[in-house]
Amino acid sequence: MEKENKMEKIVSLCKRRGLIFQGSEIYGGLGGTYTYGPLGVELKNNIKQLWWKKFVQDRMDMVGIDGPILLHPTLWKASGHAEGFGDAMVDCKECKKRFRADHIVEDATGQDLEGKNEEMTKIIHGEKIPCPNCGKSNWTDVRDFNMMFKTQMNGIEEEVFLRPETAGAIFIEFKNIMDSMRMKLPFGIAQIGKAFRNEIVAGNFIFRLREFEQMEIEYLIRPDIDWEPLFETWLKEQEDFARELGAKDEDLRRLEHPKEKLSHYSKKTIDIEYNFPFGFKELFGLAHRGNFDLTQHTEFGNEKLEYFDQETGERFIPHILEPTFGVERSLLVALVAAYTEEQVGEEERVVMKFPKKLAPIKVAFLPLSKKEELSKPTKELFNQMKDKFVCQYDETQSIGKRYRRQDEIGTPYCITFDFDSLEDNAVTVRDRDTMEQERIKIEELENYLIGKLK
Ligand code: GAP
Repeated sequence: MEKENKMEKIVSLCKRRGLIFQGSEIYGGLGGTYTYGPLGVELKNNIKQLWWKKFVQDRMDMVGIDGPILLHPTLWKASGHAEGFGDAMVDCKECKKRFRADHIVEDATGQDLEGKNEEMTKIIHGEKIPCPNCGKSNWTDVRDFNMMFKTQMNGIEEEVFLRPETAGAIFIEFKNIMDSMRMKLPFGIAQIGKAFRNEIVAGNFIFRLREFEQMEIEYLIRPDIDWEPLFETWLKEQEDFARELGAKDEDLRRLEHPKEKLSHYSKKTIDIEYNFPFGFKELFGLAHRGNFDLTQHTEFGNEKLEYFDQETGERFIPHILEPTFGVERSLLVALVAAYTEEQVGEEERVVMKFPKKLAPIKVAFLPLSKKEELSKPTKELFNQMKDKFVCQYDETQSIGKRYRRQDEIGTPYCITFDFDSLEDNAVTVRDRDTMEQERIKIEELENYLIGKLK
């Protein structure tokens, strides 16, 4: 299957089957925003729950928080976002399109001048680089463009921002966590939540958004430990999570940021990339942030964000390893990895082979006919099972069409209640992947499904 084609097919399936819709579609759409439909919201919640269980509930060295989206404006001065969060941009005065200046320069000259705005302006003007959109050469100077969304808040004169990452809300709760939770180093604080970035170009479906969710961990360590093995362990954990979404090893790779491009405080940063249909691109990241964040928030805030080691009597500012994950990019991996086309006899079937624990619907109940003698007991079965699994009831169209529909949303098991069921107290269970059908006694159905969906 061609890669671009695959992406288009996934986007169309997502709309057709109630997974993901363009945000504000009936008003012409609002770029970089999406609505998760009835099945998309289940899938997204399953991904977040999987992450929360793996990285918070199943570990003794982790705690979670849910901080606000609106944070004190001074926080963004301390973190450096107020000054330097964004890209240097250049606008075409003719067609009014805006571009990343370093991309324009690099495409035309092969030089990487990121961060050198004056030099880039000289080259773009001096060499009369044509606009990739309209072909003319009439540019503004290169200017920094801050990607934070601004808003106003009653009682505060300064501008307030929608947070561009969840991390900030974690750093500033360090003291509250220490005071309330008796954590000992090394330990981590995790959070899942919305982040907003006024990206110049949103795109590639849900890959680059203006409103999205992150799952972030700030993992605090002593400054004097050998952090490299821990760094490697976190990378492996992140790759493991990608595999749990369905990613194959050959579609994952690591990209280390070169020393000259690292932030001044970072000892090491690695992106975990996935082979999306539009190429290898960042999925997750891991950064060693030193003591930058807690030092800055101590300086700008009203509290010393120190750790007191009761055994040694030392006080110090911990260092931080930051594993960061995007929810929507995780979702996109799950979609891309699951999408399968198969030939079944004369027909082609599309099946989303989600890992079973991620599937939006686990079990579909399908009466062979709409007649009450079948629909009533099938609905009763749905009601018996709904507390154990996320179920769906579907009686519309032929059984073949209903199987295909469930395949397209990745439902692992379809249960058909037919006329024989009234006599033999058994139903037909169809497996999504093998399409094999088994006759199972109704009294054994729950345990059978529990075993299969484990
Ligand atoms: N606190 C560190 C931080 O925010 P980042 O690399 O800018 O680092 C972390 O973002 C993760 O958030 C990325 O690896 C990606 O999964 C996700 N992400 C970032 N920008 C995004 C966007 N515009 N749309 C969707 N996901 C995004």
